[in-house]
Amino acid sequence: KEHPKAIIVIFGATGDLAKRKLFPSIYRLVQNNKIAKDFAVVGVARRSWTNEEFRSNVKESIQASMKTHPELDEFASHFHYHPFDVTNPSSYLELNGMLTDLDGIYHTSGNRIFYLAMAPEFFGTIALNLKKEGLTATDGWSRLVIEKPFGHDLPSARKLNHEIREAFTEDQIYRIDHYLGKEMVQNIEVIRFANAIFEPLWNNRYISNIQITSSEVLGVEDRGRYYENSGALRDMVQNHMLQMVALLAMEPPIKLTTDEIRSEKVKVLRALRPLAEDEVAENFIRGQYDLGTVSEKTLPSYRDENNVDELSMTETYVAGKLLIDNFRWAGVPIYIRTGKRMSVKSTKIVVQFKDIPMNLYYNRKETMHPNLLVIHIQPDEGVTLQLNAQKLGDGTYGKPIPLNHCNNSIDGINTPEAYEKLIYDCMRGDATNFTHWDEVALSWSYVDPISKAWEHEKAELAKYPSGSMGPKEADQLLEKDGAQWWPIS
Ligand code: BG6
Repeated sequence: KEHPKAIIVIFGATGDLAKRKLFPSIYRLVQNNKIAKDFAVVGVARRSWTNEEFRSNVKESIQASMKTHPELDEFASHFHYHPFDVTNPSSYLELNGMLTDLDGIYHTSGNRIFYLAMAPEFFGTIALNLKKEGLTATDGWSRLVIEKPFGHDLPSARKLNHEIREAFTEDQIYRIDHYLGKEMVQNIEVIRFANAIFEPLWNNRYISNIQITSSEVLGVEDRGRYYENSGALRDMVQNHMLQMVALLAMEPPIKLTTDEIRSEKVKVLRALRPLAEDEVAENFIRGQYDLGTVSEKTLPSYRDENNVDELSMTETYVAGKLLIDNFRWAGVPIYIRTGKRMSVKSTKIVVQFKDIPMNLYYNRKETMHPNLLVIHIQPDEGVTLQLNAQKLGDGTYGKPIPLNHCNNSIDGINTPEAYEKLIYDCMRGDATNFTHWDEVALSWSYVDPISKAWEHEKAELAKYPSGSMGPKEADQLLEKDGAQWWPIS
């Protein structure tokens, strides 16, 4: 089979994402013989770097992220730099000349990926100019890859979408949600649809609730400026968390094609019960990290971080209860929570099954535990199924037993990075693990009333100490329903 080939043009090539994620991912794709050895990357940004400076930056990035790095000089020689002014048409014309030349040298057949890894205010301008100045008019294909944030709310997302759609068709647009590149997020579908024992139970008759947690240990770090305008709801819930909800709740697609899968996900998002502003407080909690001690070190509160307002009301934590109004899910709450500066870095999904109809073991004063299916997204990757069984020997009911199949993705099998898979998918023209505009629009429609409500009632912001699992209000949210968060570590 022929390897996919293209010139990858990275806008924002001097930035953090390029260095941390994109260069190492491209390196691994080449090393693993996934993409043609004849590839080229053109870095575009405002700074006046030379090819040499760019290449040494690329090399540093690979050296920092991998223990061994054979053929690094050869790899870096495929990288070219082009200083660029996004608003100046002649910048685009020069870039086009360069791409045409490189196309001849690397035999990339006119295939071009335009990867926008930079400030979103220029996404529209760039897309329009790429078309206007003829950069997309080649004999090959052109694809546009867009990093988040895709808008700030529904109106701004619509505007952005309108701009890029002037220049690219929907099937040329690859909107990144890097969670969709994670091995175990992709595995949600397989676990559900390739096992006879889960799908028959996967509904409101047998499932009591689903809990999705994505906790981080890091604080806002040096991203205060961005984060102050975003907060956890826009940064994590609108995209990553709702994507996981859609994958967990969707109907089996009739086949595994991009369109079929996306259309099932869209139906879930359409069935999310919308919250009116005055229902938000009952269903969603926002929190902000406060001073806290972690491994004997005192960490600052969010309001003391760089580029953060000292009276900031930005949420660094969100917990919420979602309901899906369809036949399968009526009455089953999906609880989500995500936050920064929590006690562990972990993303996990816990599916809690309903209690058995009657507890025969009641007299033994043992607590029965519900069956749980835990999908470990990160850092562990795998599944645990929690069952009840008799303790061997003394005939009493013992602890629940976990059937565990987990790889530790740090020490164990080295699964490919999300970005590696997503770049590869884009090269092959497979948009399944990217978000369609309809998904983006529906996610914003769900999230917008929540942010509006929070803008309007400024008082409710639950503080939680750095290094904890979030504010107590998030526990109360589940307690009201007679549920509890299952420990995730
Ligand atoms: C990004 C957010 O989309 O996801 C970050 O902007 C967050 O704030 C990150 O830290 C979390 O990703 P991961 O893969 O580390 O869970």
